[in-house]
Amino acid sequence: MLQPDFSSFPEIKTVRLLLRQITKKDAPEILRLRSNEDVMRYIDKERAATIMDAEVFINRILKSLNTNEGITWAIALKEYPETLIGTIGYWRLIKEHYRAEIGYMLNPNHWNKGIMKEALLKVIEVGFNDLKLHSIEAHINPGNAASASILTGAGFVQEAHFKENFFFNGTFRDTAIYSRLQ
Ligand SMILES: CC(C)(COP(=O)(O)OP(=O)(O)OC[C@H]1O[C@@H](n2cnc3c(N)ncnc32)[C@H](O)[C@@H]1OP(=O)(O)O)[C@@H](O)C(=O)NCCC(=O)NCCS
Repeated sequence: MLQPDFSSFPEIKTVRLLLRQITKKDAPEILRLRSNEDVMRYIDKERAATIMDAEVFINRILKSLNTNEGITWAIALKEYPETLIGTIGYWRLIKEHYRAEIGYMLNPNHWNKGIMKEALLKVIEVGFNDLKLHSIEAHINPGNAASASILTGAGFVQEAHFKENFFFNGTFRDTAIYSRLQ
């Protein structure tokens, strides 16, 4: 069984990025992300509407971190470390199976510059080498071409397509499941 210990937060640096711990100061940028319809188009979750919604989201991330149930990094450009431009993380650890579900989102001002690919490749490396995961899964809306492309580019393969398995906003939605083994 995996026994992660996030008491010392594993900050990550890539060529352009700093992946750091999320703090309450990130609430305005979290609100900007999670209320943006372009960002949320394929994410079947409630949109954030107020700063309090963003704070609730951050509190959930911090609680998950403090109980070693999951880890989410704030993505920032190295030259602006305080400004969160996105998030990436293993928000669900399935400890008994050495498996985790990954999720990510980026501010549209930074799309199509290879930023998420850079973050994802490093987070995968940390997942396998440091967190000792055996496999990583991602659940996406099958219409999310950008997410499918970034996953396959990072060595994930699609393993399943569940029909209408997810109920959100009054409709049943499909889910594509991708995974990568160590
Ligand atoms: C998905 C997302 C994180 C991609 O971030 P990004 O930094 O723009 O992606 P990158 O620039 O690193 O691109 C990685 C690859 O995906 C491809 N890609 C990016 N956007 C694409 C799109 N809209 N359609 C098809 N391919 C796309 C790129 O061409 C690139 O391919 P390459 O490695 O062969 O060059 C971003 O679009 C986003 O935040 N979307 C909204 C949130 C979301 O849907 N999250 C995933 C939920 S499962």
